[in-house]
Amino acid sequence: MEKEAKYKNVVKIINSVIETESDLIANMANICAILKEHFDWLWIGFYRVDQTQRELVLGPFQGPLACTRIPYGKGVCGKSWADKISLVVDNVHEFEGHIACSSLSNSEIVIPVFIKGEIGAILDIDSTKIKDFDDIDRKYLTMIAQKLTVLFS
Ligand code: SME
Repeated sequence: MEKEAKYKNVVKIINSVIETESDLIANMANICAILKEHFDWLWIGFYRVDQTQRELVLGPFQGPLACTRIPYGKGVCGKSWADKISLVVDNVHEFEGHIACSSLSNSEIVIPVFIKGEIGAILDIDSTKIKDFDDIDRKYLTMIAQKLTVLFS
């Protein structure tokens, strides 16, 4: 199936699953599972903001074990948090400060999840393929993040 059509279907499935559940963590867990079922990515997960420590802490994910904590501003995820932007990294080996949780990761996309006007979590996805993410991924993954914003703000 063409990528955009696949995403439309995936967004529909995710919305129907998360709309009826009021627990954020449970919804994050199912979002990871649904994405993992439909896309051939290495790692899909959420890092949650731990304001007391000014760090991101590992949340629900699918894939190999990952770094537990990421300081504010560090790595791709920390930069997304600090700059309040999504990032598409075509080649993680060329990204200064990239935190390598798996040597198999070659490209990455990160999307901030806003809760009550603040970044509450970061959706992070890694691929073994170089340049595996583009604006279509950014568009639909942002839609998924925004659904969480609507449900949990
Ligand atoms: N590569 C990320 C760290 C998290 S792992 O990819 C799961 C980063 O640089 O922030």
